[in-house]
Amino acid sequence: MTQESVPTTEELATAGVRLEIHGALARITLARPERHNAMTGRTWTALAHIGHTLSRSVRIVVIDGAGASFSSGIDLAMFDPAGGLPGEQSLLQRLLSESDDSATHASLDADIASYQAGYRWLRRPDIVSIAAVHGHAIGAGFQLALACDLRILAEDAQLSMREPALGLVPDLTGTKPLVELVGRSRAIELCLTARTISAREAHELRLAELVVPNAELDGAVTDLVDALLATPAGAARATKELLGQAGENSLEEQAAAERAAQIERLQAMAQRLPE
Ligand code: CAA
Repeated sequence: MTQESVPTTEELATAGVRLEIHGALARITLARPERHNAMTGRTWTALAHIGHTLSRSVRIVVIDGAGASFSSGIDLAMFDPAGGLPGEQSLLQRLLSESDDSATHASLDADIASYQAGYRWLRRPDIVSIAAVHGHAIGAGFQLALACDLRILAEDAQLSMREPALGLVPDLTGTKPLVELVGRSRAIELCLTARTISAREAHELRLAELVVPNAELDGAVTDLVDALLATPAGAARATKELLGQAGENSLEEQAAAERAAQIERLQAMAQRLPE
């Protein structure tokens, strides 16, 4: 896959992903249902590739899972010291086969950064990303839902940050949104017990905007997409940018950012008025 051209359906299928674009809406479906949509390095680089090549007309990205689950997280074959994924060396295989520690460290660092790129673009100000979660969202799957701006859960959704229980850490950009949403103490408890969070509890912990019966998940996503698209694109983008800075900025900085953004909005409005 080159980073410039739009990924083909076949390339995405190899990575366990489907992509449909209808006007301003892109729907990404994790599509390895026989493995509960377990994800590999290829899945994450394919997600990054989708982000790089997404048409500028897309304003909403919905991510869901085919079959019984959203995603069971990393494909456990990636830890198999004997390999296990066609065309992809497992992470442990690489550590065992490479003798130069610092080169291995650098190449693993670069690879993990490329996997993280599959998650990071979902926060871009020009789009709103929505995770539509049913069934299991474990480890990397939970982190993918956390990378999205909004989460709608079906009643059967079960979330778990499983990485520490496997001797690892959550490294797909999930720790920051988790702490921001549930607070540091609850995040410690959830990660270090790896316990399963029900949809109801997820809603109480602010991990979900909405919980609906499974049969209503698609309808709830459509309603949200329609409501988001009713807001003008420029205003949506500028507001998302402001909200994204609000946590880090002082009140003074944020007030200045609001003024600057509003002047830009007013200028855009004035340009559209007849002279
Ligand atoms: N990787 C590879 N295969 C997986 C998988 C995974 N993550 N999750 C499920 N599968 C496979 C199962 O091995 C099984 O394969 P077979 O039919 O060949 O036996 C098939 O999918 C169906 O799964 P189950 O029979 O286990 O289905 P279930 O309904 O009983 O349980 C489940 C579903 C709770 C998701 C369970 O399969 C499970 O716990 N899977 C492992 C989850 C996991 O530990 N993920 C890794 C988290 S850590 C992470 O993502 C990030 C990181 O480390 C950096």
